[in-house]
Amino acid sequence: MAIISSKKQPNDRDKAAAPADKVSVMAQAVSQAVSHGKPEKTTILQAEPEPEERSKQEEKIRPQCLTEYIGQKDLKDVLDIAIRAAKSRQEPLDHLLLYGPPGLGKTTMSLILAQEMGVKCKIASAPALERPRDIMGLLISLQPGDVLFIDEIHRLAKVAEELLYPAMEDFRVDIPLGKGKSAKMQSMSLPPFTLVGATTRVGALTSPLRDRFGLIQRLRFYEIDELTEIVLRTAALLKMNITQSGGEEIARRARGTPRIANRLLKRVRDFAEVKAFREIDRDIAAEALQLFNVDPCGLDWTDRRLLSFMIERHNGGPVGLETLAASTGEDAQTIEEVYEPYLMQIGYLSRTPRGRVATAAAWKHLGYTPPDTHQMTLLP
Ligand SMILES: Nc1ncnc2c1ncn2[C@@H]1O[C@H](COP(=O)(O)OP(=O)(O)OP(=O)(O)O)[C@@H](O)[C@H]1O
Ligand SMILES: [Mg+2]
Repeated sequence: MAIISSKKQPNDRDKAAAPADKVSVMAQAVSQAVSHGKPEKTTILQAEPEPEERSKQEEKIRPQCLTEYIGQKDLKDVLDIAIRAAKSRQEPLDHLLLYGPPGLGKTTMSLILAQEMGVKCKIASAPALERPRDIMGLLISLQPGDVLFIDEIHRLAKVAEELLYPAMEDFRVDIPLGKGKSAKMQSMSLPPFTLVGATTRVGALTSPLRDRFGLIQRLRFYEIDELTEIVLRTAALLKMNITQSGGEEIARRARGTPRIANRLLKRVRDFAEVKAFREIDRDIAAEALQLFNVDPCGLDWTDRRLLSFMIERHNGGPVGLETLAASTGEDAQTIEEVYEPYLMQIGYLSRTPRGRVATAAAWKHLGYTPPDTHQMTLLP
């Protein structure tokens, strides 16, 4: 059976069959990664989409309906009920706020909701709705029942947010006629619609906006078995040959995030293609991801640097966020929003009122002996 889109049918593990240019690109990447004894920073594990991940091929692997959407059982149960109830009443869904770290499936879920309701989904990003007429134009163009998806909704400008209030509550938009104090408001009614807001920072939403959502749902990091299912599903769509354990190996390193899982799978595919392996198994997946400096727990160089700094210089912590940022050269917000959520999720880091603490599991993972486990658990 042909695997990975390679046109050749090479012999099993026939390394000589690898095209020279691809090998040299890969070798260059590796040598860069290990130069000066210090691996370069990698973006492979960042959950934000890369430009090519907005392409048509990405749309092909995006789940299209609720049954294809893997994991997030609680969220799916809630939405399944909401969809059935709304359909039976022939009403649009209640406004929905989805929050959680990047790459967990917020945009995907909103497209699925529209699909399940049999309506269109209009997608906008809050920073692009700068002027009142941007949001007004969008609202006026809605058809009955449509889903309006606003990404990064915590970044909505104040004027745009205020225009949304009556639209969400009464399906009405107030258009100012004239300027200054003499301006009059003309109300225009809108068809009933569903606003789906997505945010990675729910705490940054104003409470009047948050309160106008009937459903507020959090997306969680995915479990290994769920991510394995996602990897195997994507591999099937991309016509790749991969074993269950190969899928699991990729899943384990994907930081609980489907977008990263799919990205790692593609890098493993490149590796297998270049090395002319016919099937991706656990060893091949591990070897490929090691090359990209992704360790067996999905930590990259920055994660390890943050933890090593806490362990080596502060005996595990507590260390203040600003100290951590200044000493490692990372931006405090990036540490807080990109690195910490996953490190906390896998139990390698905890936040205390006095600062960040590297847990005993983190010490062990990095090859250090934790001081006294009993003493560590007593830390505030
Ligand atoms: N539950 C899932 N099952 C299968 N694949 C998924 C699932 N959730 C997400 N994906 C895949 O992961 C990719 C990223 O998902 P999506 O774009 O919906 O994330 P997001 O939460 O909107 O991210 P961001 O916060 O960056 O906007 C999608 O292209 C999709 O293929
Ligand atoms: Mg999105």
